Amino acid sequence: MTEKFFVTTALPYANGPFHIGHIMEYIQADIWVRFQRMHGHQVHFVGADDAHGAPIMLKAQAEGISPQELVARIAAGRPRYLQGFHISFDHWHSTDSPENVALSQDIYRRLKAADLIYSKPVEQFYDPVKGMFLADRYIKGECPNCHSKDQYGDACEVCSTVYAPTDLIQPYSVLTGARPVLKTSDHLFFRLSDPRCVDFLNGWTTTPERLQPQVVNKAREWLSGQGEQALGDWDISRDAPYFGIPIPDAPGKYFYVWLDAPIGYLASLQSYFESGKARANGEPRSFQEFLSAPETKQIHFIGKDIIYFHTLFWPAMLKFAGPPYKVPDNVYVHGFITVSGEKMSKSRGTGISPLRYLDIGMNPEWLRYYIAAKLNANVEDLDFNPDDFVARVNSDLVGKYVNIASRAANFIGRYFGGALAYNGGMETLQRQAQDIAQQVRDSYEGRELGRAMREIMAHADRINQEFDARQPWVLAKDPARRAELQDICSRTLYGFKLLSVLLAPVLPEVGTRVARELFGLDRPFRWSDALEPPQRIAAYQHLMTRVDPKLLDTLFDTDAPAAGSKAAGTAAAAPAAGPASTGAKPTAAKASAAGVPAVPATAEAGSAAATVSIDEFKRLDLRVARIAAAEHVTGADKLLKLTLDLGTETRTVFAGIKSAYEPATLVGRLTIMVANLAPRKMKFGVSEGMVLAASNASGGPYLLSPDSGATPGMRVS
Ligand code: 2FM
Ligand code: ZN
Repeated sequence: MTEKFFVTTALPYANGPFHIGHIMEYIQADIWVRFQRMHGHQVHFVGADDAHGAPIMLKAQAEGISPQELVARIAAGRPRYLQGFHISFDHWHSTDSPENVALSQDIYRRLKAADLIYSKPVEQFYDPVKGMFLADRYIKGECPNCHSKDQYGDACEVCSTVYAPTDLIQPYSVLTGARPVLKTSDHLFFRLSDPRCVDFLNGWTTTPERLQPQVVNKAREWLSGQGEQALGDWDISRDAPYFGIPIPDAPGKYFYVWLDAPIGYLASLQSYFESGKARANGEPRSFQEFLSAPETKQIHFIGKDIIYFHTLFWPAMLKFAGPPYKVPDNVYVHGFITVSGEKMSKSRGTGISPLRYLDIGMNPEWLRYYIAAKLNANVEDLDFNPDDFVARVNSDLVGKYVNIASRAANFIGRYFGGALAYNGGMETLQRQAQDIAQQVRDSYEGRELGRAMREIMAHADRINQEFDARQPWVLAKDPARRAELQDICSRTLYGFKLLSVLLAPVLPEVGTRVARELFGLDRPFRWSDALEPPQRIAAYQHLMTRVDPKLLDTLFDTDAPAAGSKAAGTAAAAPAAGPASTGAKPTAAKASAAGVPAVPATAEAGSAAATVSIDEFKRLDLRVARIAAAEHVTGADKLLKLTLDLGTETRTVFAGIKSAYEPATLVGRLTIMVANLAPRKMKFGVSEGMVLAASNASGGPYLLSPDSGATPGMRVS
């Protein structure tokens, strides 16, 4: 039976680029989605930016742009990550969209009609200068317990005491420094404590197979809390100024961002349906028909920090809004990603920048495999350990999997013109294939991805062992034993096909290439291909290289700004705010030319250069360039020779960046060059321009990168 899935991942706040935690979640969900699609199930996999809330409003203000402009800028950067890591969302939308406004207001009206909304006055700190109410994170003051200064409004980071912002001594607004005043305003509440909600949630959270046991326990704790711990009602309104969705019949009030965020799942689905893409994906019904259909399975992948919203508020909102809304079928929760054992900060990310990973030429399928190998169905943290990463990718993917094909395919090409032939025993072989495929299928289905990878690699070991035991290199020397040689190589390639199918949800690109290039299929693998013994192969083409451990050093160069982060190109900016900046000291950085000579002495941190007129600046012809080739220069200790592709021409530039970059890691990335610099004759050749890089006394040079979407030859102004 064809199943119908509506699958989402948590919607990321639209105030910064993706960090590795987002990518991990997307990879987990994407593997599961691809696995379902390989079985012919219909999956509608959607995401969106979580656009609303005070932090985004304030960030936009600080940049002097509208929140919509900020959100649009962040959204423009998303495809680069999603495509880069092969995340197969069918649609990406925004919570700041007409669909979300209509859906949120509709759900609210229905909850109100169900008598689950009420209003009550709330007294809260207010910044009289800024003219806005302050969330706890925007209030600081002296801890009432240990008297440490500059502690946030909810808890002391020094002594861990939890308190109300009104308990702070000498409170001040983080936004303006003003002393906040207490002010009362009416807020709207969702009556989560209503017995109807509690009854429903007791049933929903304990429905077998719906939630992981750890999540059920958490929900039970919340639902059974007594006294102070009792389930509270939920404050769903915020006063203007707020970037959000207006609450019907409540002028000046907006939905709290967490109310409209999950509704954004539905908004994205609706926009996807209305774009015609759902129809193209095999679903002829309307959004409403699909959403309300009993067989539609609604599945959310989320992190452990947002369980409360997804297992209490969200199902209760949907339940009491009524049809066509339907409660989620499953909420699958994962832990956090740590890097070498270190916890990551939600705002700063970790020492791994996903864009840097891609920009330095690391293969996205290495990361997909590594994450798969380390994930299970529990709510456990996953540690990215660089040595472990290198070992697993090299020994499993390259050593065990890819090598099987190259070893066997060479004999088949050389002696049999690509034809495979099996010397009997097919039934056993196919039964074995069926057994292993079933085992792995169960693991994927249960999101036991690590177990699936172990099962696949154990089978790869068996195939390699059989191949080695039959010593095809010995058989090849004896023309009388050709049939034996063909048999073992054919069996091995059948095994390789099986492994490729089983790995295809994790390695979609390799899978597609193997299907097309080696086995001549005109479509990507389906799960059922695992059982079909191949009859022919084309010449084997190289599939995957080993990880060079040096790449991990480059990846973890934590002083370097994250590729794609604006900081590198912003003179005297705050510390690089990208995920790769964890631990970096706040130092002023300056963009400068890293052409010839290497970084000029004037590029000192913090020093302000003399002003230039706009006309003077315009004389510079700055262009986006793709590094087509990069090489060491014999006899030069600071320079690399770069071949830069400007779209319509190529240039040779000698750049003083050897201390910071391995040439191979530069190839393919985009940077910015001064295209009208007078050519300069050097000992090593003529340099026809300059690339731009940032540096200061303590670090660099760091090459500049344009934001995603830029193409070679574009003018920078
Ligand atoms: O925690 C977060 O990053 C939220 N932006 C997640 C929202 S998930 C859904 F509800 F939209
Ligand atoms: Zn304290």
